[in-house]
Amino acid sequence: MSAAIALALSLCVVAPADTRPWLDTKASPDARASSWVKAMTREEKLRLVRGYVAITKRPKEALVGAGYVRGVPRLGIPELFETDASLGVANQADTRKGDVATALPAALATAASFDVQAAYDAGVMIGSEARAKGFNVMLAGGVNLTREPRNGRNFEYLGEDPWLAGKLGGATIRGIQSNAIVSTVKHFALNAQETGRMVLSARIDEAALRESDLFAFQIAIEDGRPGSVMCAYNRVNGAYACENELLLTQVLKNDWKYPGWVMSDWVALHGTMEAVVAGLDQESGMEFDTEIHWGAPLVAALERGEVKEAQIDVMVHRILRSIIAVGLIEKPVAAPSDRIDYAAHAQVALRVAEEGAVLLKNQADLLPLGPDVKRLVLIGGHADVGVLSGGGSSQVRAASGTPIQIPMFPGAYFCVTYHGSSPLAALQARLPGTVITYDDGSDAKRAAKAAKEADVAIVFATKWAVEGTDARDLHLEDGQDALIEAVAKHNRRTVVVLETGNPVVMPWLAKVRAVLEVWYPGERGGDAIARLLLGEVNPSGHLPITFPADEKQLPRPVLDGYAAAVKAGPAGAPDKEEAFEVKYVEGADVGYRWYAAKKARPLFPFGFGLSYTRFTLEGVKSDGARVELDVVNTGKRAGTAVPQIYATPPGGQARLVGFARVELAPNQRRHVIVDIDRRLLARYDTAAHGWRVSAGAYTFTAARDATDEGIKTRVNLQGELLPP
Ligand code: BGC
Repeated sequence: MSAAIALALSLCVVAPADTRPWLDTKASPDARASSWVKAMTREEKLRLVRGYVAITKRPKEALVGAGYVRGVPRLGIPELFETDASLGVANQADTRKGDVATALPAALATAASFDVQAAYDAGVMIGSEARAKGFNVMLAGGVNLTREPRNGRNFEYLGEDPWLAGKLGGATIRGIQSNAIVSTVKHFALNAQETGRMVLSARIDEAALRESDLFAFQIAIEDGRPGSVMCAYNRVNGAYACENELLLTQVLKNDWKYPGWVMSDWVALHGTMEAVVAGLDQESGMEFDTEIHWGAPLVAALERGEVKEAQIDVMVHRILRSIIAVGLIEKPVAAPSDRIDYAAHAQVALRVAEEGAVLLKNQADLLPLGPDVKRLVLIGGHADVGVLSGGGSSQVRAASGTPIQIPMFPGAYFCVTYHGSSPLAALQARLPGTVITYDDGSDAKRAAKAAKEADVAIVFATKWAVEGTDARDLHLEDGQDALIEAVAKHNRRTVVVLETGNPVVMPWLAKVRAVLEVWYPGERGGDAIARLLLGEVNPSGHLPITFPADEKQLPRPVLDGYAAAVKAGPAGAPDKEEAFEVKYVEGADVGYRWYAAKKARPLFPFGFGLSYTRFTLEGVKSDGARVELDVVNTGKRAGTAVPQIYATPPGGQARLVGFARVELAPNQRRHVIVDIDRRLLARYDTAAHGWRVSAGAYTFTAARDATDEGIKTRVNLQGELLPP
């Protein structure tokens, strides 16, 4: 080594690296965050605990997105650029002029895939686009359980089962954060309906809450380690979710030892001290609030000594700790670029659409359509130009185009939006020898006549769902039930493709031969539908939510607050609404467990989904820690089975404790092993403050859906108490 190099090296060693210990990658995120907090002034700390709205009116440094938090350039603390959400980088109403992104299918499709890897890959993809566009916080990770099948946001969530929602939510978050950006998990907790979301109080007992909605969050947090948790609008047992000490401090921070930060939803704060005491760490979208609660009032509270600076330090520590832990400091986001491989990313969206589509009926194997179909008519649903997407803050402007965009009411920000991906074009490209026509379905008589002249008729039935509003009921709207009836009457070979963000009832079910639920299938939806209908892809999706026979089967046949919301109109001011309570009488028995408890037969059960081949489940056994079985493809086509494991504790209700996706060639057999998380066998014991597994005989059922008899094995387990 030359003297010059030796001198240079020794200079490096003695260089004062310790003046910026937050850059020491060998130190823990907590140690680095602490050193940063120590170096900050009070004003700098306060900058971090409140975020701006970043839509039309915004600080000039902010990117147009959901929110913006100032950084501390003096110390190298980055600004936070926040974007919605779970289905891709959102751009509602084209606020970021002309900026497109890859539009995933509804999260319900991801849930229906029962595919943890696909959820992860989708997260990696949307997170990489967020980063490329200059965002470093993605407001994704919606895991609210479907307790209300009319909820306008179910399409953003992952169904009714906590294990399924938690596993897939965790995988999505992990994928997003693999890009060294933060993902949230939201909306903590019990934001189960949009009607009255700003005022309602969700009433439920603590044990039931911990076993259901909170458990989905717990699993998503364990698996995904999101940098932030977004608390919800609604109240839970009286206290607003963002001012709820039980939720934010006792459960999240104490019991689960969550190290990240809690940000409020936009306009979810109602005061200053309540949220400080409860454990909130950041006020989001502060200018939307009636006053900036964590602005002057927080400073005044600090001056009066009601809030200690040490409390602000903890909030700031949590924020910094998360951005360090995800790797954002070592890999800062660059200026926005559009260097994104949209063609490759579209394949990710296509896969989710294909894996998430659920074949609900296929009488006499009408599907897949064969070469005998010479005349095909497609009816309704704008199937000539695209596929429907769900509306609200999660709205992506698809890279594949936006053939239809209509404000939900004059002047509304949220729009009914179709992604460019025409089922008609996709089918025409694949069936050059078939005459394929399109009828818009606006005239049932004309459509029926067109159906009569075709070998097969495919009706595209759509139902839009949007944040902020719930559906009136479970019916298709705008005469679509009558349209399907009319078409089916004139053509026995009628297929219904459903593009919905929720279950619908199907008064016409007996009269049609096939039903394919594709949810909102994303920017390659047209191709996915064509490939599924033609058998290029074998359907493998399974319902992540129960389809009820009618509203009377629901725990709340009438949607609380709906009548008042209708009276207020679509543009009604949420803060003027009267508070009300929603009693979650079903407790932890969400979805299929409620139907089982009531012995009610739904239209289609949770977990249900057909394939173009057949599978059998054989030889189930368990030692309580894992369940093993064989899955066999007994049909003639390759396909993917989704065996589900349900556990029934002594004297209790069955619940999903595991699942797998198993690809099988014809006649192939595969051995499947599913590990069981003990908490799924337990009840939450509030007095003992933990999960109590009772001693006794447990039944494990390997089944095709929640109502399938399946094959069973019993095992005796010792009692135990697990930590919360
Ligand atoms: C929604 C959140 C969203 C936020 C920012 C709110 O209205 O509830 O899910 O992340 O807006 O756009």
